[in-house]
Amino acid sequence: MALFDLVYLPYAWTVATAFLALLGWTLRSRLSQPKLPYPPGPPARSMISGNLADLPAKYAWHTYIEWGKKYGDIIHYRTFNKHTIVLNSYKDIVELLDKRSSIYADRPRLPMMDLMGLTDFNTGIMGYGPKWKFHRRILQQYFRADASLRYRAKQTRKVNDYLNSLLDTPDKFKHHIQTLAGAVIMTIMYDHDVAPTNDFFVDLAERHTVLLSTGIFPRSSLFQAFSILRFVPAWFPGAGFKRLCLESRKVAFDMRDIPMAAVQKQMKDGKTPDCVTANFLETCKSKEEFDAISGMASGAYGGRTMASLETFFQAITMYPEVQRRAQKEIDEVVGSKRLINYDDWSSLPYVEALLREVMRWRPVAPLSLAHSTTADDVYKGYYIPKETMILTNLWAIAHDLRRYSEPERFNPSRFIDENGRLNNDDVAYVFGFGRRICPGRHVASATIWLAMATVLQLFNIQKKKDSSGKEIEVDGGYTDAFAIEPLPFECTILPRSTESRQIISEAMAKAY
Ligand code: HEM
Repeated sequence: MALFDLVYLPYAWTVATAFLALLGWTLRSRLSQPKLPYPPGPPARSMISGNLADLPAKYAWHTYIEWGKKYGDIIHYRTFNKHTIVLNSYKDIVELLDKRSSIYADRPRLPMMDLMGLTDFNTGIMGYGPKWKFHRRILQQYFRADASLRYRAKQTRKVNDYLNSLLDTPDKFKHHIQTLAGAVIMTIMYDHDVAPTNDFFVDLAERHTVLLSTGIFPRSSLFQAFSILRFVPAWFPGAGFKRLCLESRKVAFDMRDIPMAAVQKQMKDGKTPDCVTANFLETCKSKEEFDAISGMASGAYGGRTMASLETFFQAITMYPEVQRRAQKEIDEVVGSKRLINYDDWSSLPYVEALLREVMRWRPVAPLSLAHSTTADDVYKGYYIPKETMILTNLWAIAHDLRRYSEPERFNPSRFIDENGRLNNDDVAYVFGFGRRICPGRHVASATIWLAMATVLQLFNIQKKKDSSGKEIEVDGGYTDAFAIEPLPFECTILPRSTESRQIISEAMAKAY
């Protein structure tokens, strides 16, 4: 027998056996039809693979909105034996994920997440059960609304550093935003001050996000449908996907272990770093508790949480009148003698409206993170089987014409009522629903608000001009990923006055 056959035969057997098992499973579930119908959706093209060929290749949330026009707000499709429900309306999401939260709080088992080693320790990805509940209890303890106030001094310091960098190198505004995102979470979780450039941890988190967003997410539906692909060895021709997963696994473990080890070392040396991790480790009694904090901490700094700030720059470049109105409010209420701080938040309603509009216009995670059911359910006369993947289309809510007029227009005034006060729509839906709602939402909103408000106070953001003096248009384009960000664009960022540097320096001196 040729060497080639010896090497490939076991894998051929594995693939063939797994394929037959999948075929049998699919046929069995197709033959045992439920008594009630599934929600409407595109007709399955194939009895075996179902809607596999219909799965949107890009910007899935737009396709789901189009399907919604044809089939309604609750859409069902099937890939092999896996059912998916897409929810396009706020009301249905509240009914299912909030009101029936006990059976809608699981995450789908995604083989690629197993491959990347995330299922076991990452709070956002692990299944619903005692371990996840334990993680959430700790997260709640450190990140609920009142507990999050504790981090405001740290957030203020990091925003000040950010403003300083923006003043020095405004063209690197995107880089400064990424540094700010990492800086806030790294100081809260590990008392680590990130370096302004080439910080090891910020680069690690960015690498992880890029691997997930551009390497893995676009191909995830296919991989989920063909989960047997996980048995293909990484060296196999065409198994680049698996190599990406394994690379991502290494990065995820480094993100979990390296900063944790640094805190432990400091504690061993007799220091007590001022951070969540050290505080927790001081009272940590079991390996279970240690694993929980290390998994949570790395999960927290892994996300692309500051994409909203990039969207802010993009929107302000496109809509100069919004900048003018926000600056007018700031100049009238705070003036230009001192830097805005958190005490000013409630006195600046238009700036708050601007924050809400940034989050609505481009919700960072347009399809949130998928949920999964842990029991059969019936809703509006439709059957939703156990282990159905539930996709909440946050983009559809944020751009729902029944809720927002001209949804594609960036218009913070939609959140201000006729008396000039903020309305009740706080766009909390961009942080998800039910038991899985984002635990970092209070910290995230506070960082983005302060960064936005102070940038508006100190800088003018304008369209860049080309060599002939013509303004370069910015079109509002954004990436296709589970966490989106603006496509590359240019803008000019200039200090509003010669005093900007002095105001930042004074604020920095006060804050440290
Ligand atoms: C603008 C910033 C952010 C947005 C828009 C956002 C949005 C979301 C969304 C949509 C989910 C999924 C919720 C669901 O399954 O229904 C989520 C989950 C999560 N977020 Fe955030 N997030 C942000 C910032 C943060 C920050 C700063 C942290 C860390 C402190 C964080 C930690 C988490 C965790 C741990 C989960 C998983 C929760 C679970 O599965 O139980 N997020 N986030």
